[in-house]
Amino acid sequence: MRKLLRHSLIAAGLSAAIAAPLAVAHFDDKEPLQSWRQSYFALLAANFGPIGAMVKGEAPWDEAKLKAYAEDLEHISEVDALRFFAPGSDKGQTRAKPEIWNNMQDFSDKYAALQRAADTLEDVVEDSAGDRKAVAQAFGEVGKACKACHDDYKAKNYLY
Ligand code: HEC
Repeated sequence: MRKLLRHSLIAAGLSAAIAAPLAVAHFDDKEPLQSWRQSYFALLAANFGPIGAMVKGEAPWDEAKLKAYAEDLEHISEVDALRFFAPGSDKGQTRAKPEIWNNMQDFSDKYAALQRAADTLEDVVEDSAGDRKAVAQAFGEVGKACKACHDDYKAKNYLY
């Protein structure tokens, strides 16, 4: 019975994969830069999200986890993500607006702002993870840095 269930779940998963190839195409060999940057942001979000859940009270406050997420977020933000926006990577399966390539300095400044905010959040968590207000404030600044860039440079839907 259990085995049967597992098989039908696998079958359902497979048919979903066949029916919606775009939604599951996490890595496209023909568009490595687009794929890398999307994977990069997904990883950033994988650490940002759980901190947000704790700050909002949607997940239990756990200082060890908080430290691990804040540390990873800071490390990930140190990656030179601008290399994933090299010239010629503006088209394809992407939500990156064309404005990026005309405003690379501003885009890069907005990335630097995220790096600073993630660095500050890690310091605050390191020094006073118990101070939930301070953590929430520093987390809010990271969120603002994400949003400032998304507002100008990320489309809601795929562009091409
Ligand atoms: C300097 C600009 C910039 C900053 C800062 C930034 N993003 Fe993004 N983000 C983008 C762009 C541009 C895309 C679209 C990439 C594409 O589709 O090729 C994107 C895409 C994403 C995606 C979708 C990834 C996917 O699977 O396609 C997520 C999730 C995301 N960002 C989360 C975040 C979070 C969380 C932060 C802050 C911690 C953040 N971003 C900070 C520019 C930025």
